[in-house]
Amino acid sequence: MNEYDSAKISDILAASHDFTTTDNLNKADFIVLNTCSIRAKAEEKIFSELGRLRPLKKKNPNLILAVGGCVAVQEQKNIFRRAPCVDIVFGPQTLHRLPEMYEKTLRKEKRVIDTTPAPIEKFDYFPTPRITGPAAYVSIMEGCNKFCSYCIVPFTRGREISRPIQDILTEIKNLTDKGAKEIHLLGQNVNAYCDPNKQGSFADLIYATAKNDTVKRIRFTTSHPAEFGDDLVTMFAIEPKLVNHLHLPIQSGSNRILKLMRRGYTQEEYREIIAKIRKVRPDIGISTDFIVGFPGETEEDFTLTMEIVRNLNFDASFSFIYSPRPNTTAAKLEDTVSLDEKKRRLAVLQNQLATQTRQYNKAMIGTVQKILACGRSKKDPTHFTGRTENNRIVNFTAPRDILGEIVGVKITEALTNSLRGAVV
Ligand code: 5AD
Ligand code: SF4
Repeated sequence: MNEYDSAKISDILAASHDFTTTDNLNKADFIVLNTCSIRAKAEEKIFSELGRLRPLKKKNPNLILAVGGCVAVQEQKNIFRRAPCVDIVFGPQTLHRLPEMYEKTLRKEKRVIDTTPAPIEKFDYFPTPRITGPAAYVSIMEGCNKFCSYCIVPFTRGREISRPIQDILTEIKNLTDKGAKEIHLLGQNVNAYCDPNKQGSFADLIYATAKNDTVKRIRFTTSHPAEFGDDLVTMFAIEPKLVNHLHLPIQSGSNRILKLMRRGYTQEEYREIIAKIRKVRPDIGISTDFIVGFPGETEEDFTLTMEIVRNLNFDASFSFIYSPRPNTTAAKLEDTVSLDEKKRRLAVLQNQLATQTRQYNKAMIGTVQKILACGRSKKDPTHFTGRTENNRIVNFTAPRDILGEIVGVKITEALTNSLRGAVV
């Protein structure tokens, strides 16, 4: 989601003030940090990064520094106090106002701030998207109403609001007109998508997206087990453009912890969804997210998590140590697990997940995978890179220029973080 927002920030500034992007910080007149506050670590990174950027202002007195994203909403004016070099503070819902805010700094206004949770007006201001490759993100909804007890997102991105289906389809058409082949639908909780004019659900949106002939592949993140309806299972059965991969965060294998997390499902209900999906897509790759060391998590709770990891045979997944976040209800719970124990549990979990990922990788050797060729080597034009449907990077050779095409690639080798192969 932040990648999508960052691309929009750069599109908006290009349209309003002719800005171009640079990799060289010394050449920049405007630096925008788009931030994440999902865990304390992500938040801390911003302030150390601002410390690194501060000296640039001495070299270039015209340099403007802006901080956006969820840390900006969480910290508001405190950002200016903690990092006086910052000129602009904006939120995920006010990024379209960045040109105006920039103008204010040109008029020498100091410390410009606007983080109001504007009701989804930003999409009306986005210029026609630029594309950087054949795979493109499209945000379909913003915010979240779930209020999982550990999560800061409902406080920073605000409540769930869906974009009109027609606007989304127009954005997708603009992208496919420019060469996009894969559309990745984004939202904090895509299952809750509901056209504001009652023109369709998330499954309807997938169906409508697939009707665009240029769209060859559809992905989505993130869906929520508590709202995973049978209509979405049906989409996996009938829509071949939906990739053979599903990311469905479980967080824990213990019903007691799931309840404390306020996730709204049991591990049995989660298993039921996976069983339904595997029934219609037997070889689908399922990945997930885990939080370890949630307040009150016992060894027994953790054992239940490990059991479900093995039983459901998750593919490449993400796992994190619980991080208390401001305003959340879990932050008020007593933190009962020592840091050493949290680290131990995380290592055990990650070790098991990595073993399973390696097994999946190994099993792919010799198979032919459908790969969307997203990049070509500058040095050798016969070398390409792309992703499998289950999101693995593949470096492969092809006898002709297949950039932007979906091709069959035979996997020949599995490395730790990528696969190798050749077009068949
Ligand atoms: N601490 C640790 N991990 C968190 N996540 C969300 N909030 C927290 C938190 N407070 C994780 C969840 C979520 C993923 C995006 O980040 O696993 O699915
Ligand atoms: Fe956070 Fe996801 Fe829960 Fe929403 S559903 S509160 S974004 S973890």
